[in-house]
Amino acid sequence: MAVLDIMLYPHSVLRERCAEVTEFDASLHQLLDDMAETMYAAKGAGLAAPQVNEAQRVIVIDVGREDRGRDLLEFVNPKITAFLGDRVIGEEGCLSFPDIYEPVERYEAIKFEAQDRSGTRIQMEVDGFLAIVIQHEVDHINGVLFIDKLSRLRQGLAKRKMKKRYGKTDLRRRVGEE
Ligand code: CO
Repeated sequence: MAVLDIMLYPHSVLRERCAEVTEFDASLHQLLDDMAETMYAAKGAGLAAPQVNEAQRVIVIDVGREDRGRDLLEFVNPKITAFLGDRVIGEEGCLSFPDIYEPVERYEAIKFEAQDRSGTRIQMEVDGFLAIVIQHEVDHINGVLFIDKLSRLRQGLAKRKMKKRYGKTDLRRRVGEE
């Protein structure tokens, strides 16, 4: 397993609509393992494949409490099939936008389907923080970022902050070296 570099906004891969996974093979398993290790190293609650420069429909999530150990979720070809409940506003961040946190509106619950690493279909209905993180990560594989949900003013500020900080770099964050 390896900790991968995380692509930073405005890296172009973050705007790609990612490809469906069709082969549930060793290279997919390697990607999932490396993504999990990268997410834990970066202390994130979720990570989508484009964030590690792989334009594939793959996400990993862990919303478990740190004191209760790891609770890794892997979703391949995830798809939200219904948005449920009220819209709720919560503070969100993203590993591709270090130190930027903004209030984002999401649905409080979703119906969701995906495949696991062997291709087996999964269906579930989730709410709470997990539902929010799934909405954030599924946006990523469609090239949508959390700043897109902000007012134009807040969006402009976040973009300018990122361009000022990282605009002259290669837009890759080496996790653990910050
Ligand atoms: Co993100």
